[in-house]
Amino acid sequence: MKKLIVKIEKLDHFGRGIARINNIPIFIENCLVNEEVEIFITKEKKNFMEGKVIKYIKKSPLRVESLCPYYDSCGGCDLLHLSYDEQLKYKENKVKEIIKKFCGLNCVKDIVGSKQFNYRNKITLQVNNNIGYFKKKSNDIIAIDKCLLVDNRINKIIHDLKHLDIRNVNKIVIRVTSFESMVVFYGNVNLNFDLNVDTIIVNNKVIKGNGYIKEDINGFKFVISSTSFFQVNNIGMINIYDKVLEYVDGGNVLDLYCGTGTIGIYVSKKSNKVLGIELNKEAISDALINKKINDINNIDFISGDVGSVLSQNNFKADIIIVDPPRAGLDNKSINNIIKINPKKIIYVSCDPVTLARDLNLLKDKYEVVEITPFDMFGNTYHVECVSLLSLKS
Ligand SMILES: C[S@@+](CC[C@H](N)C(=O)[O-])C[C@H]1O[C@@H](n2cnc3c(N)ncnc32)[C@H](O)[C@@H]1O
Repeated sequence: MKKLIVKIEKLDHFGRGIARINNIPIFIENCLVNEEVEIFITKEKKNFMEGKVIKYIKKSPLRVESLCPYYDSCGGCDLLHLSYDEQLKYKENKVKEIIKKFCGLNCVKDIVGSKQFNYRNKITLQVNNNIGYFKKKSNDIIAIDKCLLVDNRINKIIHDLKHLDIRNVNKIVIRVTSFESMVVFYGNVNLNFDLNVDTIIVNNKVIKGNGYIKEDINGFKFVISSTSFFQVNNIGMINIYDKVLEYVDGGNVLDLYCGTGTIGIYVSKKSNKVLGIELNKEAISDALINKKINDINNIDFISGDVGSVLSQNNFKADIIIVDPPRAGLDNKSINNIIKINPKKIIYVSCDPVTLARDLNLLKDKYEVVEITPFDMFGNTYHVECVSLLSLKS
């Protein structure tokens, strides 16, 4: 086993420390800048290596003790060894660095923080003999009794599940809102027990409750079905939606990748008309219910792939809001957005690298006015951004 002593130069975009030997970078988890560590090499390639810490020779004053007993092996968190304030600084600098490097822009604002622990309203648990999370870079499961990131009602449900016979279950999704809870079991399941939750679903079949749960976000009501996307951190979601709302100033709005219609409904009072487009049919059914229960008359929804729906129609819009998955926008969608020629584009992104790529494709025609990073996923390397783009005159 090859052992080395190295000094950490900086953190990479995945929260790993970077050290160098003969100018070859070594990526090492659970390390901070200026720390000296003894490591062994776990992977050796021509252009990079990966290492694991054996011993901390000099620790950073920024290091905090991780409160999670599973941190070393669980694949969930990356930054539990850094205080929350320092995590926010890291995320803000990361966005600044990416946007400067790939777009040559200096328009990134201060990050808006959220909550470090107990913020998640949803988790996916893997099941074999144990209930838990995947280990880092593995399909092995690490059994957990509770998780520091999730709402404590989810931890209570995990505790209850541990006492039940779930032998043929492969995967369990737990979701909670301010009022309700839902558990979805996947696998060859024959449920012979009840659970103290509002809705139980087995694969696609509703066993208990309505098959959806309800949430209230700043006075708007939302129903959420089991396969519909819903932001996992309510505080982070409201921070992001408020920023989007700040940029909406009337006119016709396209809400692309609209999920259950949350953003479109949130901004509908400041808009003339809103049209939401979303691939997931179940999310669109939820969006139509959400329109009705909020008594909103100036919003409609279409189910389909954003690029295709835009190609097949001749929409006019003053503002286009996009909130795509991590992969960002595809070329068809970008070309269609450019063709529609809105005055503003509001880009909600969950990956600054694909955001930078897409901004480069839009920036001939649009000025990138400002980008605000938001923390939604404390203790992980992930960071969200809301960008405002304005049509050049
Ligand atoms: C990050 S979520 C945003 C949802 C919503 N804006 C919200 O805040 O809850 C991205 C959404 O895009 C949808 N989606 C993914 N690919 C799509 C595509 N090609 N066309 C339309 N919607 C898509 C997903 O189903 C998901 O609901």
